[in-house]
Amino acid sequence: MLVRLMYASRAASGIDQEELAAILRQSRAANPTHGITGVLCYSEGIFLQVLEGGRGAVNRLYNRIVADPRHLGAELMLYEDISERRFASWAMGQVALARLNPSLLLKYSATATLDPFAVSGSVSMALFEELVATASVACQG
Ligand SMILES: Cc1cc2nc3c(=O)[nH]c(=O)nc-3n(C[C@H](O)[C@H](O)[C@H](O)COP(=O)(O)O)c2cc1C
Repeated sequence: MLVRLMYASRAASGIDQEELAAILRQSRAANPTHGITGVLCYSEGIFLQVLEGGRGAVNRLYNRIVADPRHLGAELMLYEDISERRFASWAMGQVALARLNPSLLLKYSATATLDPFAVSGSVSMALFEELVATASVACQG
């Protein structure tokens, strides 16, 4: 039983590139043990993350993540049963922000900034899919 979950949250103050790298390291170390794959995007204080895996494992991880003081205000954007993974190659891929094309953002939202709180979950998922298709996901886990 595979599921996909996507949420958005706001970084706690003081989250910098070093903290982000630590979160990614921690995720890449732990996720394979639990059969979790996914992608994490961080831009201007906002996290957007997709988790895929067994229903129990994804729910347990999401509950741990929501309680993490490094971010707040997590909002569930999408939760669905799936028959196959879209992000199977990444223990936790990172969207390479340098390669976030403003026209790609504009394709899916009113402004060229990443604001998952302002668009539907399916729009954010479409953006993620396009990022994967255009090889904008870095750091294979
Ligand atoms: C934005 C964000 C994303 C995270 N993603 C993951 C992840 O994919 N996998 C993971 O194991 N921990 C992730 N974490 C870390 C967890 O919140 C938590 O620290 C970790 O699972 C260890 O939990 P524990 O100390 O209760 O064992 C993330 C944390 C944040 C703030």
